[in-house]
Amino acid sequence: MKIVVLAGGLSPERDVSLSSGALIANALIQKGHQVALVDVYCGCPKAPSFIEASSAQRYAYEVPEKEPNLMELQKESGMGQRLIGDGVLEACHAADLVFLALHGDIGENGKIQAVLDTMGIAYTGSSYIGSLLAMDKDLSKQIMQRHQIATPAWQVVSVQEALQMEVILPCVVKPCSCGSSVGISVVATREEYQQAVSYAAQYEDTIIIEEKIEGREFSVGILEGEALPAIEIIPRTGFYDYKNKYQPGLTEEVCPADIPEAVEQYLRQEALRVHQVLRLGFYSRVDFILNTQGAAYCLEANALPGMTPTSLLPREAAAAGISYETLCEKIALDAWRRAQSAKRK
Ligand SMILES: Nc1ncnc2c1ncn2[C@@H]1O[C@H](COP(=O)(O)OP(=O)(O)O)[C@@H](O)[C@H]1O
Ligand SMILES: [Mg+2]
Repeated sequence: MKIVVLAGGLSPERDVSLSSGALIANALIQKGHQVALVDVYCGCPKAPSFIEASSAQRYAYEVPEKEPNLMELQKESGMGQRLIGDGVLEACHAADLVFLALHGDIGENGKIQAVLDTMGIAYTGSSYIGSLLAMDKDLSKQIMQRHQIATPAWQVVSVQEALQMEVILPCVVKPCSCGSSVGISVVATREEYQQAVSYAAQYEDTIIIEEKIEGREFSVGILEGEALPAIEIIPRTGFYDYKNKYQPGLTEEVCPADIPEAVEQYLRQEALRVHQVLRLGFYSRVDFILNTQGAAYCLEANALPGMTPTSLLPREAAAAGISYETLCEKIALDAWRRAQSAKRK
């Protein structure tokens, strides 16, 4: 198949996405597909070159330690607020399907999915509606609550309200719809709280103030309607922030997790319920904290989870006997099958 892997974008997570995108592209090339890696924001030639297995060329990208400077990128590229670069949609049209390797912003909030739907272009993963529901932490937590899925107590407020209100400490301050821990702080004092609100406000005007749950952190991937083995996340210091997520060696990840079978089954069952109530598609990843009394709280779901071979979902798939290349191909084939059955309707 001819596949465009869409990555990058004007999102604080663009570097992570470019790194995932390069590896996904290489995996699909290895599986015999013709692949072009395209930065959705910066654009590409109308007819980009597709790399195939017989060529020695492969993609590569390393995530820098710091989050990207988006203002600079906007200026340098001359794109400003336009979110889809020249040539991108033409390139997508020329392919059999689009593999979404985007994180955050239009890739994960449903906008790119909606654009591709209107143009009749097949794409991987969840629909626009599931993406939107999972990306907005307030909406997803409301839905979880309605389905009796435990999630930390929270308030959703404007930056102004956040700066003025009383809060119970410790708490976690988050932008309402970011990812990769961008803009998130775990705070213990009023002073840290004020700084945390200003930090979150750099990314969004809507802020979530959440009860801090003490305990062990786990994530459970969903693939083809089934939960994968849970993975435990143990940062060497602090919480699972941007640096601990993407710099090698800062976080220990244990998969399969060292927990009793019944707890594992419970996490997997809850992850599947979250995936379903948020109307997610072929794959996703659901984050939890298990408190010291053994209660599991769902933090959020990811419609487009990290996809480097060392990311959590590929590690969980490997524990279930699914190689990285096979995982990427399964995701691509699902998009292909859905497109074929839509054509027959
Ligand atoms: N309520 C909470 N209690 C304790 N730690 C939290 C809480 N919320 C988030 N965290 C920490 O912050 C990280 C990122 O939060 P999360 O809600 O998953 O946002 P993101 O979409 O950025 O991954 C989590 O992996 C966890 O380490
Ligand atoms: Mg998370």
